[in-house]
Amino acid sequence: MGTGQHILTRKTPSAMFLVMTIDDGGEDAVREALTGLSGIVTTVSSRVPEATLSAVVGIGSAAWDRLFSGPRPAELHPFIELTGEVHTAPSTPGDILLHIKSDRQDLAFEVGRLWTASLGDAVTTVDEVHGFRYFDMRDLIGFVDGTENPTGDDAVAAILVDAEDPDFAGGSYVAIQRYVTDFTSWNALPVPDQEAAIGRSKVENIEFDDDVKPTNSHIALNVIEDANGEELDIVRDNMPYGDIAGDREKGTLFIAYSKTPAITEQMLRNMFIGEPEGNHDRLLDFTTAVTGTQFFAPTTEFLDDPPPAPDTQIPQTPAATDTSDGSLGIGRLR
Ligand code: HEM
Repeated sequence: MGTGQHILTRKTPSAMFLVMTIDDGGEDAVREALTGLSGIVTTVSSRVPEATLSAVVGIGSAAWDRLFSGPRPAELHPFIELTGEVHTAPSTPGDILLHIKSDRQDLAFEVGRLWTASLGDAVTTVDEVHGFRYFDMRDLIGFVDGTENPTGDDAVAAILVDAEDPDFAGGSYVAIQRYVTDFTSWNALPVPDQEAAIGRSKVENIEFDDDVKPTNSHIALNVIEDANGEELDIVRDNMPYGDIAGDREKGTLFIAYSKTPAITEQMLRNMFIGEPEGNHDRLLDFTTAVTGTQFFAPTTEFLDDPPPAPDTQIPQTPAATDTSDGSLGIGRLR
């Protein structure tokens, strides 16, 4: 298995999320910048070695075939748009994700700035979010977020592709959605109703017993199991973000790492379509997904020494790639 990027870190006070699309002809510059990212992180980090600094880069489905020849991650596909009876999870553009985490906002900003500069006019940044830690790991809705994340070996097992896709073992799938929350209506909701929406108490962060936890609570819909009754985990690294004034956008940047996108997709189906159908996540009545993008974060070995560029720069659909892939056999052997 290759070496995963620096995904599992302690929770930092700052994070930055840059989503970019690759402009026509920008592929070569992006390939170079992908390899150059670790050098930028080292350079910036060395100026304040005591501060945590890490950056993870993800690549979207359509971009993959524009950047690399050879096999592609088996389950990499565009974010699946979901339309429930009431709420929609849109699928929005994004070829590259840069997820920077640091103890200090200036370091995160510097990595984002230098990396964006190295890309020049090869990309367009379509969403840029500067996240901040809010009190004791709370979302802006006031609830502690991240409690039930797996830790230690369980976290590693939850996020890393393994022998099921040997070419990409050590990589990880990443989904992000930016949510805009209506704080006027959320804050008007009495605390017991907020707690029912989440399925945990607000101040003490205690999970409700199953017999009192509503079936449309966020927790009830997001605890999912496989056929053997084993709980299926993702690692979430959400951050609050936003501008204060008036109705400017603020809310949660949701980001989830997983060994397969299928787990996150099942959770999203439960939230937006409902389980059973129509029983959607109560939290969605107060917060709206405005973006949705799926990426793959390859190993550090892949980024340091990527496979050759494809002969043609014409973007291919995942379906078209599936039929032609594999038989080409020109990927790197690992
Ligand atoms: C749990 C907030 C979106 C998956 C939680 C908790 C909070 C929360 C407060 C309880 C504490 C914890 O265990 O972390 C939010 C907010 C969101 C959001 C504010 C967006 C506005 C999502 C999405 C997914 C998701 C989109 C999945 C696709 C989960 C999971 C848990 C969880 C798996 C843990 C369930 C458990 O094991 O108890 N979330 N969440 N969340 N959330 Fe979210």
